[in-house]
Amino acid sequence: MVHLMTQNKIIVLTGTNSQAIIEVGEFAEILHWGKPVKGEVASFCFSLQRPVPYGRLDNDVAMTLAPELGRGVFSSPCLEGHRNGADWAPVFVITEIESSTHTLTLTSEDTLAGLRMITELSLDKQDVMKTRHSLVNLKSTPYQVNRLANTLPLPARAAELMTYYGRWVHEFQTVRQPLQQGGYQQENRRGRTSHEHYPALVAGTRHFDEMQGDVYGFHFAWSGNHRLRVDVKADGRRYMQAEAIYLPGEISLQQGEELTTPWLYASYSDQGLNGMSHQFHSHVRESILDKQIINTARPIHLNTWEGIYFEHDPDYIMEMATQSAQMGVERFIIDDGWFKGRNGDKAALGDWFLDADKYPNGLTPIIDHVRELGMEFGLWFEPEMINKDSDLYRQHPDWLLAVEGYEQPTGRNQYVINLQNDDAFNYLYERLDHFLTQYHIDYIKWDMNREVVQPAHNGHAAGHQQVVRYYQLVDKIRAAHPKVDIESCAAGGGRIDFEVLKRTHRFWPSDNNDALERQTIQRGMSYFFPPEVMGSHIGSSHCHSTRRRHSIEFRGLTAIFGHMGIELDPVKELQDEKQGFERYIKLHKKLRPLLHTGRTWLIPSDDEAHQIHAVVATDQSEAVVMLAQLSMPTNSLSGHLRIPGLDRTAVYRVSILDKPSNYNEIVNYQPFWTEGDCKLSGEWCEDVGLTMPILDPESAILIKLEKL
Ligand code: DGJ
Repeated sequence: MVHLMTQNKIIVLTGTNSQAIIEVGEFAEILHWGKPVKGEVASFCFSLQRPVPYGRLDNDVAMTLAPELGRGVFSSPCLEGHRNGADWAPVFVITEIESSTHTLTLTSEDTLAGLRMITELSLDKQDVMKTRHSLVNLKSTPYQVNRLANTLPLPARAAELMTYYGRWVHEFQTVRQPLQQGGYQQENRRGRTSHEHYPALVAGTRHFDEMQGDVYGFHFAWSGNHRLRVDVKADGRRYMQAEAIYLPGEISLQQGEELTTPWLYASYSDQGLNGMSHQFHSHVRESILDKQIINTARPIHLNTWEGIYFEHDPDYIMEMATQSAQMGVERFIIDDGWFKGRNGDKAALGDWFLDADKYPNGLTPIIDHVRELGMEFGLWFEPEMINKDSDLYRQHPDWLLAVEGYEQPTGRNQYVINLQNDDAFNYLYERLDHFLTQYHIDYIKWDMNREVVQPAHNGHAAGHQQVVRYYQLVDKIRAAHPKVDIESCAAGGGRIDFEVLKRTHRFWPSDNNDALERQTIQRGMSYFFPPEVMGSHIGSSHCHSTRRRHSIEFRGLTAIFGHMGIELDPVKELQDEKQGFERYIKLHKKLRPLLHTGRTWLIPSDDEAHQIHAVVATDQSEAVVMLAQLSMPTNSLSGHLRIPGLDRTAVYRVSILDKPSNYNEIVNYQPFWTEGDCKLSGEWCEDVGLTMPILDPESAILIKLEKL
């Protein structure tokens, strides 16, 4: 429906368990975003009129979807920009509203400043809200944009935050903090989504946790520099703001040109973090993921990286493939080291030609062998990167993403290619297309191992456009090869966000295959992403990144809760280990229809040394629960395991699917329910629970519940 503005209107966007009530007049303000309410909401909004105290502006100042200094908003405005010093304090007036049950589009203009803004806001059936702005320059002189931010309100009861931090091999760590005056701000200037500043956070009522509290989760879908802010205004009102960071001078709009922000995704739940995650997972499955993922079983990977690194010998690789197939692997991937001159991490990036010394007979015999074994074949690329020691650099030193005249630091001995250079872009497309056309390749791992320093094109800052060109390159490859799966990797979890997920199928969350570390990393990631997009590999018993050792049981159970794979050299492994790989591969294959479609629950435990992760079928007919003992049990008895999400009126058979090999040796006896026939109601499981078994640190058990 399109309305021309005459008087204020109340627009209601309706989700399933949430609602947004928006007052639209000259500007738009979300009056309520939370539980759905019925009745004459338009007239009820009268109750929300604010008082105006002394000692500040004489009129009420709304917290709009696009806060403006010119209207007397003293917190962070939505737009900062200017036209050679003028038109820097715009005030937009809404001229057109278009709305439906789930969507609202507002067009507003400042005719003096010569600017138009289009604001899109939607709330879908999965209760995920999405918003973005587009700014158009209407005048003949260029308009410089310094900032363009998306803003959503938070209620005054939002008193705590869960934010993210991390680093390489330690991604998706969460931290809690109060939300109070001074607020919270995170800035990412690393040029990619980053390990350090995953672009998401959660605000909620005091002591919100997995099971309870009003929570508002936010995810900013952008793979470059960003700023997230949650602020408490001087008058106590709160808001969340997200924006791409534009480098100096980088955005200059000519007449008629438009700048569109990335999408800010948000979801409200009154059911704590689990409720929020269910909504994000459903949204990802429904609206972001390629349907290819939803309709096919995710194949089990064998990735050669930690098995052979740069030592590539085709006969040996074929033997690895043979043994992988015997263990039940379904997709065999040759990682880094296959292209010309790539004998270590110091040279050859950019030279995307098969190394004829390592592969004198080409790739075809290997691919044929892999396919004859019934597996898919995958290959690693790192398209955006270049080593100075490469033929590509020797031929095109000007393709570097750099500011001329400076020597920028390297990262993993490499530099970034300027994707805004059309020749460079076309070269990379041609090379990828060549391999995907020439060979039967089902999957590529698209890596990106360094951060972006001084991104420039023709001397001007161009970090934003570099990200746009990266998306365009992936899109072009996807259009030409729609059946090829792509995994997004950036030295592990450095480029994981919803915008990448629209064009890829799997993420590599971390280079850390240590099962103990993976428990935390996967937990942090799972608040926003469902398990089927989370690559999760069994690594070697002696972890390469932490030097810690873990049993095959702990590694296996940790890996099955994602899109599973193996990352080691099967040829060198002992028989016991191989039997273990086979066992967990079988288990994953049996469980993946449930794991990759069900509802993930992170279950609080009475003992903080536990981590409990469950997946319940959407029809509640079955569930699996992984109880992981991360560190020494705090007490000798660890309380009760209470399992939410089941059909409370149904009876379930509860059994142990997998346990540590020493399970019965470490105690006089374990709880009897873990030994045999145990039948419990869903209600009992949720409200009363089962006694916790005793486990050694860094071990886990897997429990199955089947509705009778
Ligand atoms: C970093 C990735 O995260 C690893 O999995 C591996 O692909 C290496 N790059 C290869 O150089």
